[in-house]
Amino acid sequence: VEELEGKVAVVTGGASGIGLAMAHRFAAEGMHLLLADIEEGALDDAAEALHAAHEGITVRTSVTDVSDGEAMDALAADARDSFGTVHVVCNNAGVGSGGQLHTLTTRDWEWCLGVNLWGVIHGIRVFLPMLLEQGEGHVVNTASMAGLIAGPYMGPYNASKFAVVAISETLFQELRMNGSDVGVSVLCPSWVNTKIHDSARNRPDELRNPGADDLAAGGALSEMLRGVIEAGLPPEEVAEQVLAAVRSKHFYILTHDGSEVAVSARAEAIVGNEPPPFFMPQ
Ligand SMILES: NC(=O)c1ccc[n+]([C@@H]2O[C@H](COP(=O)([O-])OP(=O)(O)OC[C@H]3O[C@@H](n4cnc5c(N)ncnc54)[C@H](O)[C@@H]3O)[C@@H](O)[C@H]2O)c1
Repeated sequence: VEELEGKVAVVTGGASGIGLAMAHRFAAEGMHLLLADIEEGALDDAAEALHAAHEGITVRTSVTDVSDGEAMDALAADARDSFGTVHVVCNNAGVGSGGQLHTLTTRDWEWCLGVNLWGVIHGIRVFLPMLLEQGEGHVVNTASMAGLIAGPYMGPYNASKFAVVAISETLFQELRMNGSDVGVSVLCPSWVNTKIHDSARNRPDELRNPGADDLAAGGALSEMLRGVIEAGLPPEEVAEQVLAAVRSKHFYILTHDGSEVAVSARAEAIVGNEPPPFFMPQ
């Protein structure tokens, strides 16, 4: 989509971090916004800040759990009722959870896959038909470098992000086969300075593990990650790259210098019959 002014962007996980930065960047282009997030207070703050910073745009917010199919149906209905349609769909909501595989519970997997994978599945299911119908639009799925090469301690996260890359590649091929003008990008950042290390703030009670010492719900791993994440790329720089990809229909968005090296190392190991190289995002 080259001409963005007056068009509509929906951003899940739009209340903070990368999603909020994308919202501001789209708003600066004169786009109207539908922000969906599970965190109501942050959503209200985001809407206020967006209205204050950008004149002449409409910002709607919706408290939505992206892992809930019916809630996502309602979000799409809200988009149709409020704006008639959407043009840019950012399936971005995500949570970080960790721990070695042998320590993980079913709830750990369900929470992470629910948000990171089912959120993207539902986002495509409810919004892609609108884009196809009008023959215009762009889908941005937020994966991660963890969707291209798997490091330790992040099994559910890696699995969710590999799946998001696979779904995005599938969508790209299908759009091309169908001769559609709709575009798709997959966003694969390394560390970005957001609140992802504090993802457990949004973990539903029914998916928390009984007992306090729960790595995946914000324990030692989160603390370990805090430092590298705070030293990460500003989300505004990621948003700038997303905007460029939406405009130019660029598919893989590798945001950090050096990402290609890690991707190449994995590909070379596969074709060279070598074991997977050790990977920690830089
Ligand atoms: N920060 C990084 O280093 C990094 C790196 C690679 C990929 N990512 C991905 O970027 C995306 C955005 O994360 P971020 O880094 O901005 O973190 P963040 O925690 O700042 O933002 C994530 C947003 O998603 C929302 N959210 C959480 N669960 C939700 C749910 N069930 N339904 C709706 N919204 C929900 C949160 O409330 C929050 O506003 C995620 O998909 C994440 O996996 C982040």
